[in-house]
Parts: sequence; structure tokens; C-alpha cells
Amino acid sequence: MTTPYDPTLFRGTAAFYLRGRPPYARELPEFLAREASLERRRALDVGCGPGTVAVELAPFAAEVVGVDPDPEMLAEAARHAERRGVRNVRWVAGRAEDIPALGLGRFALVTFAQSFHWTDREAVAEVVYDLLEPGGVLALIGHEAKTRPAPPGPPGVPPIPHESIQDLIRRYLGPERRGGQGVVTMPIERYEEVLARTRFGRPQTVYLEGRADLVQSVEDVLANVHSMSYAAPPLLGGRLAAFDADLRALLGSTSATGRFWDWPGDTEVLLARKLAQAGG
Ligand SMILES: C[S@@+](CC[C@H](N)C(=O)[O-])C[C@H]1O[C@@H](n2cnc3c(N)ncnc32)[C@H](O)[C@@H]1O
Repeated sequence: MTTPYDPTLFRGTAAFYLRGRPPYARELPEFLAREASLERRRALDVGCGPGTVAVELAPFAAEVVGVDPDPEMLAEAARHAERRGVRNVRWVAGRAEDIPALGLGRFALVTFAQSFHWTDREAVAEVVYDLLEPGGVLALIGHEAKTRPAPPGPPGVPPIPHESIQDLIRRYLGPERRGGQGVVTMPIERYEEVLARTRFGRPQTVYLEGRADLVQSVEDVLANVHSMSYAAPPLLGGRLAAFDADLRALLGSTSATGRFWDWPGDTEVLLARKLAQAGG
């Protein structure tokens, strides 16, 4: 069962996104381009947000299309591409579930970076299967810290105090994970199991070396927190300034230098392939 899309889910987060969210593995775009033989072919990034993956993929492809239902994210993505001088990417408003109606054509690669969980996953995987060229690749991308060995951080730089930050968010917004107009329950079934029920079958999992050397300022950490749907500024409303003051105080008591180590984990990529001889 899927929660219907709530257009306010990421409202107010887009401006914080590129500054606040840790980047994926350096080798991700090249890796994906190689896996999908992307040169002179097309890629689709679904739930593209501010263009995080789409803009990085563009130099490796004939064209990249970024799809997202959030207009603030798409505006941010367009600015990001402009700043990078990337011209072979276009942005399309829509939900993953609506892709068949968007007339986007066929792709060698379809990516979802931290966005697949927001969709009607099994149905969307089937939609993607039809959208791929034979032999084309679906890639589900995210950070994985829990099960990956953590590298040593930079000397003298404490990690971002994620647990204390979560406590602070709960103090302001209550014990349940908020998002948009309501509370959000994240799906617990693993993507592997979801894809196993589709024409893709079970995916292959690959880990790419995460960024071990990210050091963030207090304002970067604030941007990270407000880039999250569950701590979006509109959820805090009139208490936003008080929340930010408490967050700054918490960060000040954690690091004397105002610098924090941000270990997002390795980049996990689940790869699923359409059969090379598949029709349709
Ligand atoms: C956590 S952000 C990820 C952004 C970007 N892919 C990245 O990795 O930085 C999730 C994105 O998924 C989008 N999203 C939410 N529901 C969606 C849906 N049903 N179809 C497509 N995108 C969706 C949101 O608007 C948001 O931009």
C-alpha cells in the first residue's frame, strides 16, 4: 500500500538541499555510465530533487531527464545545471507513477537516488522496466553507513551529533516522523524483495567508497537538517528561529571549532537489468 503523494512533503527544503546533503561517492557517475554503456544514450533520474545525480551524469550521456513532482526542487535543479554549465539535461514535473503519461521516450539508465521509497515501488519498477531499452539498467542509490565500516574521521573534528539532533527534532515536532501534512511511515521491506517480485528480479548490490573527508560548518549542518522532509522549515513554522537557536547551541557544545565530520557511509547502488532480448 502506498501513501498518496503529498505535494507539501519537501516544501521549503530545496534551498537547503545541495548545501546540506552529503554527496554520493565520487565514482558514482562514471560507474553508472559504464554499467549502462551510457555514452550517446539517454538517462532518466526520477525524484531528481535539486539535480544531484542528473547534473553529474550529464557529461556521460547524450541527454539526461530529471523528473520530480516538487517545483521548488526543479527550480533548484535548473539553477544547479546552469551554474555547472550543463546543457544536455531537462527537467520535467511529475511523479514516478505518472511517467508513462509524460512521453519521455526510452532510456539506457534510470536512477532513483533516495527517492524510490517515496513511490509506489513495485508498480513504478514495472513502469521503469517498460521505459528501459533492452539491456538497460535501473539503479537505486543511497547512503549506507550502518552496515559499512566507518573510516577514521579527520583528527580533532567530532562527528555531527545526529542522535542529539533527532532528539531536538522530536522535542519540537513530537515522537512521530512528520512530513508534509501528516506523519510518515517509511516502508520497511527491502528493495531487493520488492524488485524480486517484478520483471527485473533480484538486483545486484554494489558499494562505492563514500566520502570520508567531509567537514561541515554549523550552517552546513543546519542546512542538512532543514533539507530533511521531517525537519522542513514549514513544519516548525513560528518556532523555526527557536529551533535554529537550540540547534546552534547544541552544535556549539559539541565542537569548539564549529566544524563537524560528516560520514554519510558508502554509496549503495542496487542494480537491476532489463533482459537484453526483452521486447516491449
Ligand atoms: C530525498 S530527495 C532525493 C533527491 C535527489 N535524488 C538526491 O539524491 O539528492 C527525494 C525526492 O523525491 C521526490 N519525490 C517524492 N515523491 C515522489 C514520487 N512519487 N515520484 C517521484 N519523485 C518523488 C521529492 O520531491 C524529492 O525531491
